[in-house]
Amino acid sequence: MAAQAKVVLVAGARPNFVKLAPLYKAIKDEGRLRPFIVHTGQHYDHTMSGSFFSDLEIPVPDANLDVGPGSHAVQTGTIMMRFESLLPKLEARCVVVFGDVNSTIACALVAAKQGIPVAHVEAGLRSNDWTMPEEINRVLTDRLSNRLYTPTRDASNNLLREGIPSERIVFAGNIMVDTLRAHLPTIDHGSVLRQYGVEARRYVLVTLHRPSNVDDADTFGELWRALNRAARDEVVLFPVHPRTRATLKRLEPPAPGSRLRLSEPLPYRTFLALLANARVVLTDSGGVQEETTALGIPCVTARPNTERPITITEGTNRLVPPGDAQQLVIALQEADGYRGRIPDLWDGRTAERIAHDLGKRCDEW
Ligand code: UD1
Repeated sequence: MAAQAKVVLVAGARPNFVKLAPLYKAIKDEGRLRPFIVHTGQHYDHTMSGSFFSDLEIPVPDANLDVGPGSHAVQTGTIMMRFESLLPKLEARCVVVFGDVNSTIACALVAAKQGIPVAHVEAGLRSNDWTMPEEINRVLTDRLSNRLYTPTRDASNNLLREGIPSERIVFAGNIMVDTLRAHLPTIDHGSVLRQYGVEARRYVLVTLHRPSNVDDADTFGELWRALNRAARDEVVLFPVHPRTRATLKRLEPPAPGSRLRLSEPLPYRTFLALLANARVVLTDSGGVQEETTALGIPCVTARPNTERPITITEGTNRLVPPGDAQQLVIALQEADGYRGRIPDLWDGRTAERIAHDLGKRCDEW
């Protein structure tokens, strides 16, 4: 039997780990390729990284670039320098990058310049908002990629419009849904709800971490007002991202008796249980917009735009301007009426399709 070709899977930040887990397993099961995991270290706290590896049963990374915190240039540049010296030693057939974080563009750029084919999982998403660091990462990563796996048909169409040859594009479906479907039935939902003192469909779950929402005290002030207002009527659970923690320190704490409850960032399975049982979710995360659509849970997204329009046209998502507390509160109150359907190929088999295609492709590369 021929030696298995090595495929490098790069992950750096929390949403990457959720996408890597099913592909790692599917590549192992498919058998033609040997996965090698590189963790860039973009996220490094246990709550942002280690807990995801254990919850999602991802093995300890084969290499860790340990970049840690820094400005965009420092973080992206440090990942590039460290990946540039590691990659030639790996004799990789291909490098797979996920999503739109700084680790994604940094490693795609290094691989492309070393002439190693790049495959991008979650290609083609576009907010058309060039002020978002992720949008810059998305466009550039797609331009550098030899194989582009899209989660939706509209994402494939975005790539075609930008002149990417159609033979490079594969509509593979949403890989996060694979992780969600694998874990949902194995979670003890009742015990998570008891642990957080909430009843199914009687609380709001919140995640906010976009720089445009949380770094600016005025915008975050409106969001904070909306949360405090909503917490007069029902429990509001808010696991706080490290970036958001800094802004929170400058705001008034919740009033005595408020039902607004803050926590550390949650492990994947705990968060999924709370997501699946919420009445409504308020978020600015890309992944959470998709997970709520996959679960049929109403979602209010505090952003002016989304790179995931299918969550609105087919799913349960609504966009609300983050700088208007009153509109946010009304959207949360009306959310019970948000209904949707599950988009095509959000079926739990995306990783299998990608692993199969990648196996064939790597024979040619
Ligand atoms: C990054 C991604 C974003 C993704 C988010 C998910 C980019 C450009 N952004 O944003 O798309 O939605 O991750 O979480 O890649 N910090 C810690 N511990 C950690 C990680 C970060 O304390 O484990 C702190 C950093 O020191 C920094 C802040 O959190 O102060 C921001 O982290 P960073 O990784 O720069 O960006 P995110 O906001 O997490």
